[in-house]
Amino acid sequence: MELKTVLTGITPSGTPHLGNYIGMIKPAVAMSAEDGRNCYYFISDLHALVKCHDAEHVQRFTLEIAAAWLALGLDPQQVLFYRQSRVPEIAELHWMLSCVTPKGLLNRAHAYKALRERNTTGGADPDTDVSLGLFSYPALMAADILLFDADFVPVGKDQVQHVEITRDIAGSFNARYGVRFRLPRAMVGDAQSLPGLDGRKMSKSYGNTIPIFCPVDELRRSIRKIKTSSLAPGEPKDWRSCTLFELYRGFAEADEIASMMRRYEAGIGWGEMKDILVGTIERHLAGPRSLYRDYLEHPQRIEAVLEQGEERVRRIAQARMQGIRRAVGLRRPVCAAPAAIDSASAGHGSVA
Ligand code: TRP
Repeated sequence: MELKTVLTGITPSGTPHLGNYIGMIKPAVAMSAEDGRNCYYFISDLHALVKCHDAEHVQRFTLEIAAAWLALGLDPQQVLFYRQSRVPEIAELHWMLSCVTPKGLLNRAHAYKALRERNTTGGADPDTDVSLGLFSYPALMAADILLFDADFVPVGKDQVQHVEITRDIAGSFNARYGVRFRLPRAMVGDAQSLPGLDGRKMSKSYGNTIPIFCPVDELRRSIRKIKTSSLAPGEPKDWRSCTLFELYRGFAEADEIASMMRRYEAGIGWGEMKDILVGTIERHLAGPRSLYRDYLEHPQRIEAVLEQGEERVRRIAQARMQGIRRAVGLRRPVCAAPAAIDSASAGHGSVA
């Protein structure tokens, strides 16, 4: 079977929450265990610098994210797990890609566009708070993806445009330099997005998150705070529009979910439902929570795992960059023009 390369980045911009777990970590860990996958999962700490200028936070969230993924079952033997910043070839390729990326392409990127529109509406200069890093964010993503010839890029809906931009950039580069970067495809998971404490999508920007590894008392307190209707126990309830049910669905087994639908129709009380929900989440997370704490108490173990991944990834990246450098003309004067980029050394031949 031909191996398919799956690559995705996780930006360390906050403490991982239940929405991250159900929406991303759980499906990504499951996918990495499937046959025929060659997975690159990395911490996009360079991307974090775009929004976060607090060095302690960047360091802390990087550690927490690494600990969370490992505690939740990521097997670093099976997946290349690394920090983006530790693979400097990515930043190098970013520059080369920047030089063939039309500015107009990035003008259309939604984060940049939205900020400019907000500025304009607010009467400010359109470029207020627009850094070169924010503008170039999708081009850095393109470097992450193209350097390793990813076939599939699992992302949330908000990132699909960036994968499309990556394809465009790859197209320009391929046409200009006669290389063959593989054109990646976004993979938008069917995992439902988890509602947060206020019923809106659980997201750091809404401040409605429940951390994956908060102590169980805090979990219970958070769940108790979720607003419900005033229907009394015994009155039939609709599971279709219920935050508690959606959270339950994220953690329960299929048969439990089916029987919970019937209990809603039979009028389960909100208090009981909340207790069941806490128990179900706890059943999933009690084990990983103690692993997580253990990792955080021994950060050198996290470091060792990441460094191992980084060593493997860098070998691949260096081999790839040799060919790419030659293709753009960064070669010694005695060097003849290559007929094509030599990819055999890169381990999976496609920039050829
Ligand atoms: N921008 C992505 C996010 O915030 C993270 C990311 C960085 C990424 N580089 C990537 C995702 C490359 C997929 C591929 O969610």
